Amino acid sequence: MGMKHLLGIDELSADQIQDILNRAEYYERAMHNGRWDKDVLADKMVLTLFFESSTRTLTSFDIAAKRLGAHVVNWNANVSSLSKDESFSDTIDTLAAMEPDCIVIRHSEYGAPGFVAKRVDCAVVNAGDSWRQHPTQALLDALTIVQKKERLEGLTVAICGDVAHSRVANSNAQLLTKMGAKVRFVAPQMLMPQKMPAEGIDCFEDLEEGIKDADVVMMLRIQKERMDRGSIPSEAAYFNNHGLTFERLKHAKPDALVMHPGPMNRGVEIADDVADDARAMMKRQVANGIPTRMAVLDMVMGG
Ligand code: CP
Repeated sequence: MGMKHLLGIDELSADQIQDILNRAEYYERAMHNGRWDKDVLADKMVLTLFFESSTRTLTSFDIAAKRLGAHVVNWNANVSSLSKDESFSDTIDTLAAMEPDCIVIRHSEYGAPGFVAKRVDCAVVNAGDSWRQHPTQALLDALTIVQKKERLEGLTVAICGDVAHSRVANSNAQLLTKMGAKVRFVAPQMLMPQKMPAEGIDCFEDLEEGIKDADVVMMLRIQKERMDRGSIPSEAAYFNNHGLTFERLKHAKPDALVMHPGPMNRGVEIADDVADDARAMMKRQVANGIPTRMAVLDMVMGG
């Protein structure tokens, strides 16, 4: 299955999500035995445009593209002509005139990847926009869950913390719901979204109640950059009331997975020892970013 763009999970059917996961699983296995077509994207040019900072997503798109033989240009907003007041539209038109085969974009503005997709001829992949969508994060999270639990359907996934400002929560809730999982949002009232991204989500303010018998506990960072100052109490108070500790984790299933998209704030939303526990999937999530993004790049540029 080819795709022109990947802009959001909301645009994908369950079959399309399954196709991407199948291809990501193929690349994950292939990377272990070293056997895959390393030239599948030879001569393709991938341009990464990150208007927000990133460690995981930017680096894994770069590695994923190179593992498939593509050339990569990591454009740097800080040294661009945006500092000379060039507009966003003119910046996009200028870069598109250099004829990349794919633009991978992260932006703080709602819907920026969709705006770019309408202006350019090449493929566009959303690497995170505002609090709206982070589709490849949800896909790599799904791959991680399937590897450990062998399915998504029927699982209970509690997404906990600053849900209101989280594109990861939105994309995950949409993906998991489409694939037959039961999603819970667990957040203090001020961090609970006013509009739900999918139907059938149960909401809890209390962490112990919200993660009760959950198969997966997905913790989220407080996104201070997307909220007004003073809208949360101190970090210590937040940890005391809403942080994931071993004591609280006992309320989930004994074999529950602990996940976090990163970056983690240890001692704020998650205790140090929980973050380093065998049930914590963070390193596996990061590793799965590469085969997942290989699958997506292959599908938008290869077919
Ligand atoms: N999960 C995630 O998007 O991390 P980065 O901001 O480091 O890319």
